[in-house]
Amino acid sequence: MIAITGASGGLGRRVAELVLEQTDPQSVLLLTRTPDRLADLAKRGARVEKASFKDPTGLKRVLQGVERLLLISTDAVGARLEQHRQAIAAAARAGVWHIAYTSIAQPSADNPALIVPDHLATEQAIRESGLEWTLLRNNLYAEGLVPAVQQALESGVWVSNAGEGRTAYVSRDDCARAAAAVLLTDGHERESYDITGPAALTQAELVALANEIHGANIEYVDQDDEDYAVDLAAAGLPAPAVELIVSVGQAVYSEFFQKVTTDVRALTGQEPATVREILERNR
Ligand SMILES: NC(=O)c1ccc[n+]([C@@H]2O[C@H](COP(=O)([O-])OP(=O)(O)OC[C@H]3O[C@@H](n4cnc5c(N)ncnc54)[C@H](OP(=O)(O)O)[C@@H]3O)[C@@H](O)[C@H]2O)c1
Repeated sequence: MIAITGASGGLGRRVAELVLEQTDPQSVLLLTRTPDRLADLAKRGARVEKASFKDPTGLKRVLQGVERLLLISTDAVGARLEQHRQAIAAAARAGVWHIAYTSIAQPSADNPALIVPDHLATEQAIRESGLEWTLLRNNLYAEGLVPAVQQALESGVWVSNAGEGRTAYVSRDDCARAAAAVLLTDGHERESYDITGPAALTQAELVALANEIHGANIEYVDQDDEDYAVDLAAAGLPAPAVELIVSVGQAVYSEFFQKVTTDVRALTGQEPATVREILERNR
């Protein structure tokens, strides 16, 4: 039995669809806080159960008989570590054999991105759980650029503190394909995969690409951390969001998100999508 947590999220749903295309639906368990959103996948034969990392007793109950579990990190940055730890402990108590976890690129203690510490500590908890594990270290989603480009088209400017740093943006679909491959094929125990797109782009290159695709004239504004934070706050963002966005730019210019690998192709047999493809597909 294969189980996927967070199965109604953008990533989880796509992994579930891919897994259901490739294996007996009766061996697929989809866990979510909102089972109604997965009624279509239940109709295809998957078992759908309500579960939350905040209810480890319920989670342990529904995980009985599961061999492989995809643990999708939650969106509660800063508060999710405790959720993840509870989920790992529940999986261990339920007798799960293997956990695959959706982590982040370069989750080291010196990576300044504030999304990193939860992932770093979760990876550690998984390694210490006694279960088999696989780490899927997803780079930043290329789809995250789509609303940012839209906003830049409206304002005429693309502001960033990432400097000359490069990011190996990866499509969420490729992250899902890689996760499905780990769930459905053997030999991924104790492996860490760097799930990246096929190239790493600077912010200036991104803006040039967006201008070309949209026939636009977005201006690239390169700011230091302090000016960027002031601008973001002036635009109405709450302080924690400002801190988080600035920290991601710091991680980019400190070269934590620039590594390009062939892991997507190795796991899925397909080349990962380019940023150009994602932007053109989502015009
Ligand atoms: N690499 C990147 O650029 C990037 C960008 C955004 C997010 N992420 C991370 O990748 C994850 C998946 O991305 P996504 O696009 O699918 O995000 P999303 O659509 O925002 O989904 C959020 C996910 O968190 C799960 N979740 C929230 N609270 C939970 C709880 N108490 N117990 C169990 N699951 C809980 C949701 O599950 P249900 O709603 O089904 O219960 C859902 O799978 C995110 O949660 C975040 O950790 C990465």
